[in-house]
Amino acid sequence: MQNNIERVLVDEELIRKRLDTIAKEIETDFPQGPVIVIILLKGALVFAADLLRRIPRELSIECLNVASYHGGVESSGNVDFLDLHFPEVEGAHVLLLDDILDTGRTLAAVKKRLLEEGATAVHTAVLLSKDKTRAEEVEADYIGFEIGDEFVVGYGLDYKGKYRNLPYVGVLKLSAAV
Ligand code: XMP
Repeated sequence: MQNNIERVLVDEELIRKRLDTIAKEIETDFPQGPVIVIILLKGALVFAADLLRRIPRELSIECLNVASYHGGVESSGNVDFLDLHFPEVEGAHVLLLDDILDTGRTLAAVKKRLLEEGATAVHTAVLLSKDKTRAEEVEADYIGFEIGDEFVVGYGLDYKGKYRNLPYVGVLKLSAAV
Protein backbone atom coordinates (compact mmCIF):
# COMPACT_ATOMS: atom_id res chain seq x y z
CA MET A 1 0.00 0.00 0.00
CA GLN A 2 2.71 2.50 1.07
CA ASN A 3 4.64 1.66 -2.13
CA ASN A 4 1.88 3.30 -4.15
CA ILE A 5 2.33 6.69 -2.46
CA GLU A 6 4.30 9.27 -4.44
CA ARG A 7 4.83 11.57 -1.46
CA VAL A 8 3.41 12.34 1.98
CA LEU A 9 1.57 15.68 2.03
CA VAL A 10 0.46 15.85 5.66
CA ASP A 11 2.09 13.56 8.20
CA GLU A 12 0.65 12.12 11.42
CA GLU A 13 2.34 14.60 13.73
CA LEU A 14 1.03 17.60 11.79
CA ILE A 15 -2.49 16.14 11.78
CA ARG A 16 -2.38 15.57 15.55
CA LYS A 17 -1.30 19.14 16.28
CA ARG A 18 -3.81 20.69 13.92
CA LEU A 19 -6.69 18.65 15.36
CA ASP A 20 -5.76 19.85 18.86
CA THR A 21 -6.12 23.44 17.64
CA ILE A 22 -9.36 22.95 15.71
CA ALA A 23 -10.97 21.08 18.60
CA LYS A 24 -10.15 23.98 20.95
CA GLU A 25 -11.57 26.49 18.47
CA ILE A 26 -14.80 24.52 18.11
CA GLU A 27 -15.10 24.14 21.88
CA THR A 28 -14.70 27.91 22.33
CA ASP A 29 -16.87 29.02 19.38
CA PHE A 30 -19.88 26.78 19.84
CA PRO A 31 -22.65 28.03 22.12
CA GLN A 32 -23.68 25.86 25.05
CA GLY A 33 -26.61 23.58 24.26
CA PRO A 34 -27.21 20.57 22.09
CA VAL A 35 -24.93 20.01 19.12
CA ILE A 36 -25.48 17.34 16.47
CA VAL A 37 -22.41 16.24 14.56
CA ILE A 38 -23.02 14.92 11.05
CA ILE A 39 -20.18 12.79 9.68
CA LEU A 40 -20.11 12.36 5.91
CA LEU A 41 -19.28 8.74 5.10
CA LYS A 42 -16.96 7.28 4.42
CA GLY A 43 -14.25 9.85 3.86
CA ALA A 44 -14.69 11.82 7.11
CA LEU A 45 -14.69 8.76 9.40
CA VAL A 46 -11.06 8.90 10.49
CA PHE A 47 -10.98 12.70 10.79
CA ALA A 48 -14.20 12.66 12.83
CA ALA A 49 -13.05 9.89 15.18
CA ASP A 50 -9.86 11.78 16.03
CA LEU A 51 -11.41 15.26 16.18
CA LEU A 52 -14.50 14.43 18.23
CA ARG A 53 -12.51 12.69 20.96
CA ARG A 54 -10.77 16.01 21.53
CA ILE A 55 -14.02 17.92 22.16
CA PRO A 56 -15.04 17.52 25.82
CA ARG A 57 -18.74 18.29 25.58
CA GLU A 58 -21.97 16.41 24.97
CA LEU A 59 -22.41 15.72 21.27
CA SER A 60 -24.93 13.64 19.34
CA ILE A 61 -23.31 11.89 16.42
CA GLU A 62 -25.01 10.97 13.16
CA CYS A 63 -23.63 9.73 9.86
CA LEU A 64 -24.76 10.57 6.37
CA ASN A 65 -23.94 8.61 3.25
CA VAL A 66 -23.42 10.82 0.24
CA ALA A 67 -21.58 10.11 -2.97
CA SER A 68 -20.14 12.35 -5.64
CA TYR A 69 -16.91 10.62 -6.69
CA HIS A 70 -18.20 7.07 -7.07
CA GLY A 71 -14.72 5.66 -6.38
CA GLY A 72 -12.68 7.44 -9.07
CA VAL A 73 -10.55 10.59 -9.17
CA GLU A 74 -13.09 13.12 -10.47
CA SER A 75 -16.34 14.49 -9.06
CA SER A 76 -19.39 13.25 -10.98
CA GLY A 77 -21.08 16.64 -10.56
CA ASN A 78 -24.06 15.15 -8.68
CA VAL A 79 -24.41 14.73 -4.96
CA ASP A 80 -26.53 11.68 -4.11
CA PHE A 81 -28.06 11.14 -0.66
CA LEU A 82 -27.83 7.39 -0.20
CA ASP A 83 -29.63 6.94 3.16
CA LEU A 84 -33.30 6.03 3.44
CA HIS A 85 -33.69 8.26 6.49
CA PHE A 86 -32.26 11.72 7.07
CA PRO A 87 -31.09 12.51 10.64
CA GLU A 88 -33.50 14.54 12.80
CA VAL A 89 -31.89 18.00 13.01
CA GLU A 90 -34.82 20.35 13.56
CA GLY A 91 -33.88 23.15 15.98
CA ALA A 92 -30.33 21.85 16.38
CA HIS A 93 -26.93 23.42 16.00
CA VAL A 94 -25.08 21.19 13.52
CA LEU A 95 -21.38 20.57 13.05
CA LEU A 96 -20.90 19.00 9.62
CA LEU A 97 -17.65 17.08 9.06
CA ASP A 98 -16.17 16.14 5.70
CA ASP A 99 -12.77 14.91 4.61
CA ILE A 100 -12.06 17.38 1.82
CA LEU A 101 -13.49 20.47 0.18
CA ASP A 102 -12.97 20.19 -3.56
CA THR A 103 -15.63 21.49 -5.99
CA GLY A 104 -17.76 22.46 -2.98
CA ARG A 105 -20.81 20.59 -4.29
CA THR A 106 -21.00 18.14 -1.39
CA LEU A 107 -20.80 20.69 1.43
CA ALA A 108 -23.17 23.06 -0.36
CA ALA A 109 -25.76 20.32 -1.02
CA VAL A 110 -25.63 18.86 2.49
CA LYS A 111 -25.65 22.25 4.21
CA LYS A 112 -28.70 23.29 2.15
CA ARG A 113 -30.51 20.07 3.04
CA LEU A 114 -29.71 20.43 6.76
CA LEU A 115 -31.14 23.94 6.78
CA GLU A 116 -34.22 22.75 4.86
CA GLU A 117 -34.65 20.05 7.52
CA GLY A 118 -34.78 22.78 10.17
CA ALA A 119 -31.25 22.99 11.62
CA THR A 120 -30.84 26.40 13.28
CA ALA A 121 -27.16 26.72 12.34
CA VAL A 122 -24.71 24.62 10.35
CA HIS A 123 -20.97 24.95 10.85
CA THR A 124 -18.58 22.92 8.75
CA ALA A 125 -15.15 21.44 9.35
CA VAL A 126 -12.97 19.71 6.76
CA LEU A 127 -9.59 18.08 7.13
CA LEU A 128 -8.42 19.36 3.74
CA SER A 129 -9.36 22.15 1.38
CA LYS A 130 -8.16 22.21 -2.20
CA ASP A 131 -6.92 25.57 -3.43
CA LYS A 132 -9.11 25.95 -6.51
CA THR A 133 -12.14 27.72 -7.93
CA ARG A 134 -15.24 26.04 -6.51
CA ALA A 135 -18.29 24.99 -8.54
CA GLU A 136 -20.40 26.10 -5.55
CA GLU A 137 -19.84 29.15 -3.40
CA VAL A 138 -19.08 27.50 -0.10
CA GLU A 139 -16.22 27.62 2.38
CA ALA A 140 -15.65 25.61 5.52
CA ASP A 141 -15.61 27.26 8.95
CA TYR A 142 -12.74 25.06 10.13
CA ILE A 143 -10.02 23.81 7.78
CA GLY A 144 -7.24 21.43 8.74
CA PHE A 145 -4.91 22.03 5.80
CA GLU A 146 -5.01 23.88 2.49
CA ILE A 147 -3.57 21.72 -0.28
CA GLY A 148 -2.99 22.04 -4.02
CA ASP A 149 -5.44 20.74 -6.60
CA GLU A 150 -4.28 17.13 -6.75
CA PHE A 151 -5.87 13.82 -5.89
CA VAL A 152 -4.96 12.64 -2.39
CA VAL A 153 -5.56 9.50 -0.34
CA GLY A 154 -5.13 8.36 3.25
CA TYR A 155 -6.53 9.34 6.65
CA GLY A 156 -10.03 8.41 5.43
CA LEU A 157 -9.64 9.36 1.77
CA ASP A 158 -9.70 6.58 -0.77
CA TYR A 159 -8.98 5.59 -4.31
CA LYS A 160 -11.47 2.93 -5.39
CA GLY A 161 -12.11 2.05 -1.75
CA LYS A 162 -8.45 1.62 -0.78
CA TYR A 163 -5.88 3.65 1.23
CA ARG A 164 -8.38 5.00 3.81
CA ASN A 165 -6.38 3.42 6.65
CA LEU A 166 -3.11 5.17 5.85
CA PRO A 167 -2.29 7.30 8.92
CA TYR A 168 -1.21 10.28 6.78
CA VAL A 169 -2.43 12.13 3.67
CA GLY A 170 -0.44 11.39 0.53
CA VAL A 171 -0.44 11.70 -3.23
CA LEU A 172 -1.00 8.49 -5.13
CA LYS A 173 1.54 7.42 -7.76
CA LEU A 174 0.15 7.73 -11.26
CA SER A 175 1.00 4.09 -11.83
CA ALA A 176 -1.33 3.13 -8.94
CA ALA A 177 -4.31 5.11 -10.31
CA VAL A 178 -5.51 2.48 -12.75
P1 XMP B 1 -16.66 18.14 -3.58
O1 XMP B 1 -16.14 18.19 -5.01
O2 XMP B 1 -18.13 17.86 -3.55
O3 XMP B 1 -15.89 16.90 -3.05
O4 XMP B 1 -16.21 19.32 -2.78
C1 XMP B 1 -16.06 16.39 -1.85
C2 XMP B 1 -15.94 14.89 -1.89
O5 XMP B 1 -15.19 14.42 -3.02
C3 XMP B 1 -14.26 13.45 -2.65
N1 XMP B 1 -12.90 13.94 -3.00
C4 XMP B 1 -11.78 13.26 -2.88
N2 XMP B 1 -11.56 12.02 -2.41
N3 XMP B 1 -9.26 12.30 -2.79
C5 XMP B 1 -10.28 11.54 -2.38
O6 XMP B 1 -10.07 10.43 -1.93
C6 XMP B 1 -9.38 13.55 -3.28
O7 XMP B 1 -8.40 14.20 -3.63
C7 XMP B 1 -10.73 14.05 -3.32
N4 XMP B 1 -11.24 15.23 -3.72
C8 XMP B 1 -12.58 15.12 -3.50
C9 XMP B 1 -14.42 13.27 -1.16
O8 XMP B 1 -15.24 12.15 -0.95
C10 XMP B 1 -15.16 14.49 -0.70
O9 XMP B 1 -16.01 14.23 0.38
